[in-house]
Amino acid sequence: MKTEITALLGTEYPIIQGGMAWVAEHHLAAAVSEAGGLGIIGAANAPADWVREQIHKVRELTKKPFGVNVMLMSPYAEEVAKVIAEEKVPVVTTGAGNPEKYMELWKSAGTKVIPVVASTALAKRMERCGADAVIAEGCESGGHVGETTTMALVPQVVDAVEKIPVIAAGGIGDGRGIAAAFMLGAKGVQMGTAFVATKESQVHENYKQCIIKAKDIDTRVTGRTTGHPVRALRNQMTKEYLKKEAEGASFEELELLTLGSLRRAVQEGDTRNGSMMAGQIAGLVKEELSCKELIDKLVKETDALMKGTGIYE
Ligand SMILES: Cc1cc2nc3c(=O)[nH]c(=O)nc-3n(C[C@H](O)[C@H](O)[C@H](O)COP(=O)(O)O)c2cc1C
Repeated sequence: MKTEITALLGTEYPIIQGGMAWVAEHHLAAAVSEAGGLGIIGAANAPADWVREQIHKVRELTKKPFGVNVMLMSPYAEEVAKVIAEEKVPVVTTGAGNPEKYMELWKSAGTKVIPVVASTALAKRMERCGADAVIAEGCESGGHVGETTTMALVPQVVDAVEKIPVIAAGGIGDGRGIAAAFMLGAKGVQMGTAFVATKESQVHENYKQCIIKAKDIDTRVTGRTTGHPVRALRNQMTKEYLKKEAEGASFEELELLTLGSLRRAVQEGDTRNGSMMAGQIAGLVKEELSCKELIDKLVKETDALMKGTGIYE
């Protein structure tokens, strides 16, 4: 499965584990990289010291390439950006904004920069300011979502950029999804939800089991009225949130429901009032596999479908 993305990342497969707040820590990232994909540490709102420690811990567990996801709205974004350059992290992905101001810093450290985009306009702008690739993420995904589906977004982003490769994300759960992404013109994929439920993922067993039991219609998007839509498995929290949103509750009132809610799901296993961020593909996740088992299965399924297409070697 050699594509422009495996060449860019130096990985065996063009499969990236998305940076995920509270979820994507060193055990998960190292296991994905060891299995031939690209593991990513999710810096989210964490301080720079935590990120540096996670980078060191990944390096203790694997010699293979890995990345860090920077949430640009984080109060620590600036310090985290510096740590990434100091530590010469091989790959950085960015979410929630425009990483232009860090581009030079990262490039001079040899870090490959791959912003997550939800529109063709941002994709073009990222290419102009030096991005090595972009991740086009459709609204089927878990976590913060845009408006456009992966099926519609990916080919439009592929057409919009001139030279850089596109990675598809959102709603990919097996080899069929990966093969479909290749058909849309992507050169790699990023997956989140499927990795939340792996053995090496440190999230509470309750959360993993909710993903495994979820059906196709079990996710909800909260926060459309606040401008920060988030997709998670439906539970008491999403029900209450959506009811309050429909009643026109204020941003502050809604914030009270979600403050610390992802941490509650991940660490305490609070499946009632926690935010169990997950994408629409949760219904396809049926068992808790190791990262190696999952990646081997994905590669086998994809290879069988892609044989003879000439899209990759
Ligand atoms: C629990 C969870 C937390 C996430 N946190 C982040 C984040 O902090 N930064 C980011 O860029 N993307 C985040 N995402 C998105 C993932 O990196 C990935 O792009 C997405 O999950 C892909 O879609 P899928 O869930 O359908 O596989 C998160 C997703 C999940 C499920």
